[in-house]
Amino acid sequence: CGIVGCVGRPDETLDVLMHGLSKLEYRGYDSAGVALANSAVEIEKHEGELANLERAVESDAPAGPVGIGHTRWSTHGPPSDRNSHPHADCEGEVAVIHNGIIENFQEVKDELTAAGHEFTSDTDTEVVPHLIESALADGASNEEAFRAAIERIEGSYAIAAVFAGGDSVFCTRQDSPLVLGIDDDATYLASDVPAFREFTDRVVYLEDGEFARIDADGWNVSTADGESVEKTIHTVNWDAEETGKSGYDHFMLKEIHEQPRALRQCLRGRVDELGGQVELEELAGVRPSSVQFVACGTSYHAALYGAELFREAGIPAQAFLASEYVTSPPPIGDALVVGVTQSGETADTLSALREARQRGARTLALTNVVGSTVARECDHTLYIRAGPEIGVAASKTFASQLAALNLFAFAATDDHDREAIGALRDLPSTVQEVIDDSTAESVAEAYHDADAYFFIGRGLNYPVALEGALKLKEITYRHAEGFAAGELKHGPLALVTDNSPVIAITTGDGELARKTVNNVKEVEARDAPVIAVTDGQSDIERYADHVLTIPETQPRTAAVLANVQLQLLAYHTADQLGRSIDKPRNLAKSVTVE
Ligand code: G6P
Repeated sequence: CGIVGCVGRPDETLDVLMHGLSKLEYRGYDSAGVALANSAVEIEKHEGELANLERAVESDAPAGPVGIGHTRWSTHGPPSDRNSHPHADCEGEVAVIHNGIIENFQEVKDELTAAGHEFTSDTDTEVVPHLIESALADGASNEEAFRAAIERIEGSYAIAAVFAGGDSVFCTRQDSPLVLGIDDDATYLASDVPAFREFTDRVVYLEDGEFARIDADGWNVSTADGESVEKTIHTVNWDAEETGKSGYDHFMLKEIHEQPRALRQCLRGRVDELGGQVELEELAGVRPSSVQFVACGTSYHAALYGAELFREAGIPAQAFLASEYVTSPPPIGDALVVGVTQSGETADTLSALREARQRGARTLALTNVVGSTVARECDHTLYIRAGPEIGVAASKTFASQLAALNLFAFAATDDHDREAIGALRDLPSTVQEVIDDSTAESVAEAYHDADAYFFIGRGLNYPVALEGALKLKEITYRHAEGFAAGELKHGPLALVTDNSPVIAITTGDGELARKTVNNVKEVEARDAPVIAVTDGQSDIERYADHVLTIPETQPRTAAVLANVQLQLLAYHTADQLGRSIDKPRNLAKSVTVE
């Protein structure tokens, strides 16, 4: 979910909130709502995309000097008007928005119901306005009532509230992001900076357990005990424009095209111009004797790739799905545990890292978001510097994760392989070449009606096959699976037909390529169309119906280049099918529940 708030622009509160919600829609988009406080609290909320709310406020615009807004991705209760946020108490004195999960909500709800409170939604959130209402009835001030309610709940949350007749927004966080935007005469709050970046570049990141009160005179942050906290104001170094589509049809396409720049940012100052040397000040002295990666989704594919890099350098390394790591943690020994997470807020990944820390492990965060929870909690952080990514399906952040994992592996293993480091340094321009010359759109045209898509690869190209399939299924809603090329004959081959293209990633001319070519012959014999992603070094083209070419490079960078072709293939297939590319059904960019 995404939350936003604004104080200090009395005539424009609604516009500011709607703008913020449009920038946060990628965090969830099954319903949206706003609450503005004047002498009463006016709430407008609707199921479905933000457009529904936009239409509603056109005819009946709530007004007031302070306000909060929310875009939801359901966790408790299906998407519906009544389950949308903000939620209010019985008397309509307070409105609350919440991102996260209140674990003890049933117990609290039972108590409140017994005391006569009537609930109107299925959400866990609704206990908060009712708790506030109880405290107000006992004579507490607005702020005291807000704090009393928070004290009573357990779980993960970023919560904000406004009160009838009040001129402040109160907010707090626990395991969910919350950031303030500071301007001379207005103050904002949001789950993420793009919500208010257009208005200010000065931000204050709240820590778990901190409370903020925002009013027309400014803002202050305090602890749960009410002690004032000195906060640093950070300046963000990217423009509001970077969160717009800049003429592309979709954010995803824009983000695919942004990869050369993202990679340049990732590598800047970290790779010696002459090659042969990688320097990561933030990881000075980090020389793990073994590594365990934890991650989810696309980041898990990056983690598989990262583990392979370390194993190639002779260092034991494994990648784990974060949710499984928590369920059955492996022996950690002296492993460095690395969380790979673009957003830095994925609940499963945070839990895995917390589990590892509890068992005494040192931890490293590989993330895109400065000030994210993962960055604050881990012992070390390596930023991938990809810039904000809005498309739900990760693209540029995956490329930047792979580049950053290369930097990490080179630095942490004292590897000075000039050719490999040189290829990494050249990655921005080779990725540009792939984007410029790709024929993925015409391949997508030929196969957008296929029954299923199978992706195969070996070694470093195996995670690329998994990622290619994930990308395709996420945005086309078509069945797609990635397999280790060697596994194809152990089962999946039964699924192969003349209407299920096999996308084979084959780079180099060594043993791995030779074996993958053999696997391709197996599918070709079953009449499946073959799409080869290749640097032209093997003879795979002889068996392929279509070829997506990448420049010849080192194996590590070849995987990044091959992935760009697969991103474009998924994008154009989805585009031809008319899918909602930036906001695929049922998915959210940042999943902050386990
Ligand atoms: C969600 C997104 C995926 C993403 C995963 C991990 O499920 O839909 O695209 O790969 O979270 O996100 P993270 O921010 O941890 O990289």
